[in-house]
Amino acid sequence: MGDTMKKHLFIGGQWVEAKDYRPLYSPYSGEHIADIAYANEDEVQQALAAAEQARPLMAQMPAHGRAAILERLASLIRENADACARLLALEAAKPIATAKLEVERTIATYKFAAEEAKRIHGETIPLDAAPGGEGRIAYTIRQPLGVVAAITPFNFPMNLVAHKVGPALAAGNTIVLKPASQTPLSAYFLAQLLQQAGLPAGALNVVTGSGSVIGDILVTDSRVKAVTFTGSPEVGIAIRAKAGLKKVILELGSNSALIVDQGVDVDAMIARAVTGAFSYSGQVCISIQRIYVHEQIFDDFVQKFVAKTESLRLGNPMDPVTDLSACISSRDAQRAMDWIAEAQNSGATVATGNQREGNLVHPTVLLHVQAASRVSCQEAFAPVVLINPIASIEEGIQLVNNSRYGLQAGIYTENIRTALTAAEALEVGGVMINDIPTFRVDHMPYGGVKDSGTGREGVKYAIEELTELKLVVFKK
Ligand code: SIN
Repeated sequence: MGDTMKKHLFIGGQWVEAKDYRPLYSPYSGEHIADIAYANEDEVQQALAAAEQARPLMAQMPAHGRAAILERLASLIRENADACARLLALEAAKPIATAKLEVERTIATYKFAAEEAKRIHGETIPLDAAPGGEGRIAYTIRQPLGVVAAITPFNFPMNLVAHKVGPALAAGNTIVLKPASQTPLSAYFLAQLLQQAGLPAGALNVVTGSGSVIGDILVTDSRVKAVTFTGSPEVGIAIRAKAGLKKVILELGSNSALIVDQGVDVDAMIARAVTGAFSYSGQVCISIQRIYVHEQIFDDFVQKFVAKTESLRLGNPMDPVTDLSACISSRDAQRAMDWIAEAQNSGATVATGNQREGNLVHPTVLLHVQAASRVSCQEAFAPVVLINPIASIEEGIQLVNNSRYGLQAGIYTENIRTALTAAEALEVGGVMINDIPTFRVDHMPYGGVKDSGTGREGVKYAIEELTELKLVVFKK
């Protein structure tokens, strides 16, 4: 992972000593794990200048060259898979078994990027469909945008970086990456691996430090042609307001919901629903936060869901049997506890959980929660789920849609008509029928409506966002 646990900036293919460093602590143990560069304005400007300088080289690199770099990167991550997983467990308190899954997904994402790099193409347009268009041949091409600013969250420090870096490089762009302050180690490791994979100097630059200082520079600089951000709606909306005419791709929050119809096999789906609610302590944008269960099966569902939840193992992220570990910060752990208390004060009951040890919040199941409680209408991003009864699927759909968010939703039903109605009526970017809203594989289109964002990731779709469509017309 480099020479020491003092992590310098990565600019123009060099490890650049910063003027300032800040300590990084483990969210689980509180131990001091590294000192991380804290970039000032000049250092961010250097990163932008390096990305701008590398722009022509990347734009001219043939598709097979870009694909080869991404393929080599995927192989290098495979060779270093254990080290990558350990970094995620260390910096993000991601249980090591879950971290290993993230590393596998990261490899898949870069492989998809390598493949997609070879099929970025336009189409021919029959101009003679319009009077006056005769005697012409027209086609479109997709060109790289240039410098892309990528601002990434803590919850998938490798794979959500891959969803920005992979498509941006596949399309021939250059990047300035600002990883989340809590999870810089894996981003710097990626820089090291990409350099080993043969990426030209300046094509990827990594800067760490104050989110607002770095973010403001990246979002307002005229050399940056696109900003791709995953994080909170508040920051996403501010980015959009400042970005002018830059392309802006926003993957924001959600309070994702699952509807469970009568007649479904509860035993067959309960483990999956519990995983969807509590994987990585609910710190996933498509984590199940609200479950609406048909009243006919409500009691049975709750009893089985609670029993499965109580079998989860809590503890050290480095322990291979741990299912749930610490929340990312003590502030977030306390926020979760406050929101649980607020729901209780409004009449909700706690079926299990509602306990905190350090930053570790026990997986908590709330019943009969008011829609106005924050644990229902805001994004919890914590191991807290509510289960409410519904009299009909229509009521469930209405409750799901009664949200500022719309990322993904799930519905379990044996009725095809109900499934098709829900698919059409749910106001989200993706509907999972007979699966949880937390389902994601890395080539599918992924993104939201309402305050959940704009634009789509999923490598092919992100490449569309990170390229410019150009029309060429030949007059014979
Ligand atoms: C996210 O939290 O937005 C990403 C979820 C995933 O990739 O599984």
